[in-house]
Amino acid sequence: MDSKQNSTKKILVAFYSRDGHTKKAAELIAEHLNADIDEIADKKSRKGFIGFLIAGYDATRGKTTEITFSRDPSDYDIVIIGSPVWNGKITPAVRTYLLKNKEKIKKSCFFVTCAAKDRKALLQMNEIYGGEVLSKKVLTRKTLEEEAREFAEELKSII
Ligand SMILES: Cc1cc2nc3c(=O)[nH]c(=O)nc-3n(C[C@H](O)[C@H](O)[C@H](O)COP(=O)(O)O)c2cc1C
Repeated sequence: MDSKQNSTKKILVAFYSRDGHTKKAAELIAEHLNADIDEIADKKSRKGFIGFLIAGYDATRGKTTEITFSRDPSDYDIVIIGSPVWNGKITPAVRTYLLKNKEKIKKSCFFVTCAAKDRKALLQMNEIYGGEVLSKKVLTRKTLEEEAREFAEELKSII
């Protein structure tokens, strides 16, 4: 698979998105940083009202899930990871991605998208990863695009 090259560093933006907000933010960030992008897919259906209820339950219980993704994070200098917030927690898909790949990720940056500003999920990502986190940010849905661009600008100056 072809991969884009930032001026100095190889960067990957990996994300999970149920309803498209995290995907939108990930695309903006990747475009800004000339980074590769990889969507983490959850094999468990999260659609509809039942899917919503199970999603919240699984996140609250800190459950993992079966996921698919395409790119190898060990090919990158920095991996930026995005997750929606579900019941104050990260999604099972991103929890699983971090657990599977934490040894392969050299340096990371995290962002979460949510309805209200909620930093707890970012702290969970920190705890699961355990490595060097260069930056992390909460993006609220209402001002998502503006905040995603701001975050990408911040990242440009530190990575
Ligand atoms: C099951 C579920 C639980 C959620 N829980 C929270 C929450 O605790 N706090 C919050 O601010 N937003 C919560 N939200 C809203 C999402 O975090 C927000 O809409 C996010 O941007 C969705 O990302 P996506 O469109 O990429 O799936 C929840 C959404 C779902 C589906």
